[in-house]
Order: sequence, then C-alpha cells, then structure tokens
Amino acid sequence: MEPATSVKAEELFQLTERVNRISVSPTMAVLQEAEKYKARGVDVVDFGPGEPDFPTPEHIKRAAIKALEENRTKYTATPGIAPLRQAICDWHAANLGSSPVFQPAECIVTAGGKHAIFNAACALVGPGDEVIIPAPYWVSYPDIVKYAGGKPVFVATQPDDDFRLRAAAVEKAITSRTRMVIANSPCNPTGAVIPPDEFAKIFDVCRRHGVWLLSDECYSHFTYGNAKPFSVASLPGGRDRLMIAGSFSKTFAMTGWRMGYLLAPQPIIAAVTKLQSQSTSNATSIAQYAALEAAKGPMDSVGAMLAEYGRRRERILNGLRAIPGVTCTAPAGAFYVFPNISAHLNANMPTDTAVAKQLLEREHVAVVPGEAFGAPGYLRISYATSLERIEEGLRRIERFFTQSAGRQ
Ligand SMILES: Cc1ncc(COP(=O)(O)O)c(C=O)c1O
Repeated sequence: MEPATSVKAEELFQLTERVNRISVSPTMAVLQEAEKYKARGVDVVDFGPGEPDFPTPEHIKRAAIKALEENRTKYTATPGIAPLRQAICDWHAANLGSSPVFQPAECIVTAGGKHAIFNAACALVGPGDEVIIPAPYWVSYPDIVKYAGGKPVFVATQPDDDFRLRAAAVEKAITSRTRMVIANSPCNPTGAVIPPDEFAKIFDVCRRHGVWLLSDECYSHFTYGNAKPFSVASLPGGRDRLMIAGSFSKTFAMTGWRMGYLLAPQPIIAAVTKLQSQSTSNATSIAQYAALEAAKGPMDSVGAMLAEYGRRRERILNGLRAIPGVTCTAPAGAFYVFPNISAHLNANMPTDTAVAKQLLEREHVAVVPGEAFGAPGYLRISYATSLERIEEGLRRIERFFTQSAGRQ
C-alpha cells in the first residue's frame, strides 16, 4: 500500500520535512484506482474528474497551431507575454466587472490556477501564519498552506445554508495570526456560490483586520439559476488586500494547457514573478497564445457548455434525491453535486471512503469521498460527463445503496 512505501521513502531518502508535510491529492488517488479498472477493460462510470469533458474550442486550438507554425516556441517574459496580460485584465473587466480595470503590472500568467494559488501562498504565508479555509474545501488549499509554512484554520459551512461562506463565521475565526482567507465561489466540491452582498461583507472583514482575501474564481462562469458570474474585484472601495486566482482550465475546457493567472497589487505580482523566475519561468509559450485567443475571442462555447452542465445538474440532482437515505443540496455553480450519504454508513461501510471504495468495486462507479474535502459522510460526484453516463451511473448508485440497505 502507498503509505508504507512513502514512509520508507522518507526514511531511505531523508526527504525534507517541508515535503513530508504534504500528501498526494486524494482526488488523484481515486482517479488512479479507477484507471486500474479501466485498464482491465471494465466499464467504469467515472464521476471523479474535476475537468470538463468538452474539447478545447476550435478557435483556441487553431491559435496554438498558428503559434507553433510561427515558431513562438521560445522563452517569454516570466509574467507572460504582454498582450496576454492585457487581454486577461480586459477579459476580467468585461466578463466579471473588475473596476477599475486591472493593469498588466497587476497580472501574472501562471501554469494553471493552482500554480497561482501556490505562488501567492508562498509569497505571503510564512511559519505560524494562519489561513482561513472554508470547509468543505478544495483538496489542495490545506496542503499549499502547509507547504508555505502556514496553518490551515477551517471554517465550516452548513448544508442547510447551501454551504455558503458567511462573513460572521470568517470574522469569528480571525486571530492576530491570521494572514489570509481563501474564498472559492463557485465552490469545489459543494457548488456553493457566495451571494455578492455576503462577499462584500467578507472582504470588508478582511480589510478591517488587515487580512488578505484570496478569491479563487476558477469556476466563475459556471453558475445556475439566480447565481451569476461575480468577482469581488467589481466591488467599489479599493482592492488592497485582494488577490484573484483565475484559470482557463474550466471556463475554456483547457485543463491540460496549464493556463492560469493571478491578479493582485503590483508588489505582490513582482514577488510572485521573482519566485516564478527561479522556478517554472514562463508558462508554456504556445499555450499563452491559445489563452490569448480564449480571452479575446467569442464566449459562445462557454455558454454552450454551461447549458449542457445545467441539463446534467438537473438530472443528477433529481436522480440522487430519489434514492432513499441520500440528501443533496442544489449546487448554484461549478459542475459537482455533493450528496450526503451518512444514512448509509454502517459497520460494513463505516466511512464515505469505504463507500467510495465499495462503489468502485461492486458497481464500477468512481466518486471522490467527502473526507478528501474535509466533509465526512459525503461523496463528490462530477457531472462533467455525458447525460447517458449519468443515467447509467445513477442506475448503479441506486442499486448499490438499495442492496447495501438490504444487507443490513
Ligand atoms: C477550486 C479549484 N481551484 C483551482 C483549481 C486549479 O485548476 P488549474 O490549476 O487547472 O487551473 C481547481 C482544479 O480542480 C479547483 O477545483
């Protein structure tokens, strides 16, 4: 088993305390397990992936091919090519209402949104610093904070409040050591969207306490019902203490291109540029030209993907809610549902991790256990897969829980 191997490796190779502090992403572990079944030819319904199942839009791929043909294959400036930095600032203003428009000196292009968050944490969080992370949380936040030397402080969000982060809860968790608050709206894994007025209050709390707000906008354009794409950078009153981590991965179905950005006050961008200059250097040159086309080109493909996600969301939500003992809040954004399956836990299946394991073994359905997101008793199901696979997956999940109840 993996933990034993890693303990051995730590001893054998004397890995640093810094790297021993963190662990492999639990979502990756599930995906790897599902891959083993697939490699054996098993028909797995894979609800694991945190990525769009759509191909990258054609015009974006064309731009990359053109960049290749024009030999744009050399190093670029560390923070990214100038037209892309400008285009990101303009795109953000046009699509998320940032005002005043960010300046290119307030923008750095990174190798994905995760890289932006990692670099921002490394630039601002040090030993003993506390970072407030709303739970359930995206798996990487605690490990990134720990790697930077900080201490994650979790603030629980509640299912009966649709998992929305509240300013009062943030303020209660602030201490003299708090350095940063991470907000993720729409949220992975819950799909929760923080209402704009609450977001304004959260930012106000941060500013009053001199704490940084890092807003992860990775799913900004996937919102449903009354929820609309929103950025805290559109609020009046200044942007000191605000950082925005953005990504091309989900919005433009570009996960493999590794394109993201950080928008922040110029001195923060300078610090992150310094860090990047000594680690990854620039993000891939060709991918930058693809991202430039994404930011400047039409947004139709985003609307088409959203419409399809909307249909899938409806189907999977209704399907899960029809299973006895399963409850599920309606996600206002992203492409995940986060059902509570705690009524099905028993001596044979005591945890959500055991449920996920048995679901894969017995019904060949891959999901991520809630424990990975700091939420025992839940499963994360990604509906970034076809309606047909969703129907098949629902059939299997229902059979699984019906049979498990019968075994009791
Ligand atoms: C909440 C959240 N933030 C950031 C990311 C990072 O995405 P990327 O590094 O592909 O831009 C992800 C990816 O799953 C995510 O779910």
